Amino acid sequence: MSNTHTPIPPFSIVIFGATGDLAHRKILPALYNLAVQGLLPERFNVIAFARRDWTDESYREEMRQAIDQFSRNKLDAAVWDKFAPNLQYVRSEFDQADGYARLSQQLADSGDPAHANRLFYLATPPESYPVLVQQLGEASLNHSPNGWTRIIIEKPYGRDLASAIDLNEQVHRVFAEEQVYRIDHYLGKETVQNLIVFRFANAIFEPIWNRNYIDHVQITVAETVGVESRAGYYDTAGIGRDMFQNHLLQLLTFMAMEPPYAFDARALRDEKVKVLQALRPIQLSDSMPGQYVGYRNEKGVAPKSRTPTYAALKINIDNWRWQDVPFFLRSGKQLADKTTEISIEFKRPPHSLFPLEPGELLTPNVLTLCIQPDEGMHLRFEAKVPGAGMKRQTVDMDMHYATDFNGAPLPEAYERLLIDAVQGDAALFTRADEIELAWHAIDPVIQAWESGAVPLFFYESGSWGPYESGDFLGKGRRWRGHCGEIDHA
Ligand code: BG6
Repeated sequence: MSNTHTPIPPFSIVIFGATGDLAHRKILPALYNLAVQGLLPERFNVIAFARRDWTDESYREEMRQAIDQFSRNKLDAAVWDKFAPNLQYVRSEFDQADGYARLSQQLADSGDPAHANRLFYLATPPESYPVLVQQLGEASLNHSPNGWTRIIIEKPYGRDLASAIDLNEQVHRVFAEEQVYRIDHYLGKETVQNLIVFRFANAIFEPIWNRNYIDHVQITVAETVGVESRAGYYDTAGIGRDMFQNHLLQLLTFMAMEPPYAFDARALRDEKVKVLQALRPIQLSDSMPGQYVGYRNEKGVAPKSRTPTYAALKINIDNWRWQDVPFFLRSGKQLADKTTEISIEFKRPPHSLFPLEPGELLTPNVLTLCIQPDEGMHLRFEAKVPGAGMKRQTVDMDMHYATDFNGAPLPEAYERLLIDAVQGDAALFTRADEIELAWHAIDPVIQAWESGAVPLFFYESGSWGPYESGDFLGKGRRWRGHCGEIDHA
């Protein structure tokens, strides 16, 4: 994980797909924000490698506009004037050796210290990954004579287990695993990293973080947006590939892993892998795919599409810590709220001293880690209502990043991850075995959804998913959204 004590070396980042949406919205704004914070070294290059007939100048202008629109820090003329000259454009098809030869020549200029350390970023549609990797290898760009070479690969990493294994093989033919940084931007989110600090820098939570105290765990990644302009991709991916294989399973591993022996890439990823190895095969009856009403009318979506835009899954982890503790995961588009959160619902007290109404139970304690948008955490517990009798009420002890850290703005995930890659810290990137294990868990479920072996449920936009999902958790359990509150929509 990026270390403020490690100096940030001069480097060149070569972005494939540099004219695409991700480069506009995320990668360039992240680089610019690093510049604003003074986190870039004196010498760095951003080399766009793309097919469009652009020049250094037109690329700079295009990116200036993108940063103006998408950056969390306003475009500042002084910062921009220093940043912009580092942007260069190499025009090439992805399968033509000549383009890589020109790139290689450009990087061979030893007068620029930034050319020694090379970070390739694959931000193209995934179909291009194999050819890009192969061409980089053929141009001998998989190593640098005077520094390091690393490659960042965007999701989706494969579209099923077999293609992910294939892609790993193709990548490993050219790059050593230590050079490969598979990005999952959820791991760059402050609050996801805070889960590690929360669990392992405090002594009071770990003893209760297990089957003895926890009834179940809920992980919700809800979005209000639909598929927008990405229907072409989304209709072939669906929520399983788009969110579960990566973001949701990653959140699960952070939540469930054993304490790593150290805070480094190997130790952390070893523990995450053990969680994935312990996943019990998901029963199809423990999955609920859904689709929002109106999805089939979206431009680019097949009229009879069965692609799920929502899903709920019940996952069991077969190890000592988590035996019999279900993890309920759900995610969806066009839901009632934009929220990413993990709620840990504890077991109820074994006996009530207080008179209860017939059928009434004591309310369980709930710890909710709110990952976004209102980053923070809430612990809900019972307190006595002042006055006569012993009436109880649930109260909330909370922490909010916005107030507890003097309103300091949270960096974007991509800022953190780019710096980590430049510093050679792969802790927040996904290792080859992790990717394959995640596919191993989710692939059979996606296939069953696609084949129609599991019925598709429909839901209204702005709801919390299919009506039937209300019963998904089993008796006495309710979904929580809005940072740990029971869903009512
Ligand atoms: C992306 C998915 O990986 O994550 C998108 O492809 C989704 O479909 C996005 O909208 C959500 O990310 P965030 O950071 O907005 O929660």
